[in-house]
Amino acid sequence: MNAASATQPVRVVDIIRRKRDGGELARREIEHLVAAYTRGDVPDYQVAAWLMAVVLRGMTRVELAALTESMLRSGEVLDLSELPAVKVDKHSTGGVGDKTSLVLAPLVAAGGLIVPMISGRGLGHTGGTLDKLESIPGFNVNLETADFRRVLRACGCAMIGQTAAIAPADKKLYALRDVTGTVESPYLICASIMSKKLAEGIGALVLDVKTGSGAFMKNEDDAAFLAELMVATGERMGKKMVALLTDMDQPLGRHVGNALEVEECLEVLRGGGPDDLRELCLELAGWMFHLGGSDAGVEKGKQRAAALLASGAALDKFRAMVELQGGDAAALDDVARLPRARRTAVVPSPREGFVASIQCEQVGTASVVLGGGRERKEDAVDPAVGIVLHKKVRDRVTAGEPLCTLHYNSDEKLSAARSLIERSYRIDPQPPAATGPLVRRIVRGAGEGS
Ligand code: URA
Repeated sequence: MNAASATQPVRVVDIIRRKRDGGELARREIEHLVAAYTRGDVPDYQVAAWLMAVVLRGMTRVELAALTESMLRSGEVLDLSELPAVKVDKHSTGGVGDKTSLVLAPLVAAGGLIVPMISGRGLGHTGGTLDKLESIPGFNVNLETADFRRVLRACGCAMIGQTAAIAPADKKLYALRDVTGTVESPYLICASIMSKKLAEGIGALVLDVKTGSGAFMKNEDDAAFLAELMVATGERMGKKMVALLTDMDQPLGRHVGNALEVEECLEVLRGGGPDDLRELCLELAGWMFHLGGSDAGVEKGKQRAAALLASGAALDKFRAMVELQGGDAAALDDVARLPRARRTAVVPSPREGFVASIQCEQVGTASVVLGGGRERKEDAVDPAVGIVLHKKVRDRVTAGEPLCTLHYNSDEKLSAARSLIERSYRIDPQPPAATGPLVRRIVRGAGEGS
């Protein structure tokens, strides 16, 4: 089937069939599909079919540019020039226990930069920043643009979701991809992330591209390909860009689940927290400071970030943002005010030995199964449920020692989640080889400097 001529009316079924057969779509066809779906004029089932065709067939760079720009233009592009400081952000491609955004936005704002963060909800087996924030009682992620600006002016950071005004196409497509098995496409991930981020009015963006068993891109070369697509897309739009390929072969930190992850972020903001989570936060913050131009090099930026955690300045910023967005700031000092599951269950080690590996996607799926994520678009998440890992890769265990604790509210969901967790841990008699570095590769943009 050939591309529709410029004068022919666009038929969605033809767009689906051409992509299904490996053809290239014209810009006007992609623009039509995105605009019509955002208006509610194309049903979910047609867009789901098209998304699946993209997952299987891919896109050309020209199609990707058309998709990203159509999604970006589905809403307003913020102009934050009235705010004097440099605007910088970071975005992750999605992981398990990946909670760095909650630390980074206030941390980097405490260092004097502006962080206007537009985030997503849980996607597939991965958690979402918005779902985590909403576990803080009262926290409102649905700010209108004027309120978003007000919070940014007042405290230097704000964290919201896509709205009817900003990247509404991504809001709809993201929710549909989540439940139709159409997340794992570098083109769809690139367009989703970059359309949100380019709408933010930022000058620089740090990308955390996950790779490993809990990432959408399991293989490092696929992750590098995604990183290059996003860095090139951002640079074409005049942004300073860098992408860090980081390890997702096991959950980041020890807590997986919405309120549980907020609790762990608070530990980091108090200067503690698990080593891997703290290290990644410092690394990403170092790059944000560096690209934001406020420090000479990434190392200096990391030192600055460590000082802002130690002094409590980052926690103060987080408290200010939570208050400004309607959240219960008292919950930050008394985590018993965060949602708590009614029951807990321990998963013991079946034998003595060492944790050789953790199938990370299954841990994320177990959290979704407990109710921490969505099986269908209209599902509400349970903010209280999740998993606390007591043992991670290379840890020694004795028979019967707890590997993790499941926080749950339904017995039926518990048994499904428990069996996923039992199958995800491999215990061997000998310790495995040393785990690789947390940051596996860096994909630099041409204008990034060091
Ligand atoms: N994060 C996003 O915002 N979009 C994706 O598609 C994946 C991760």
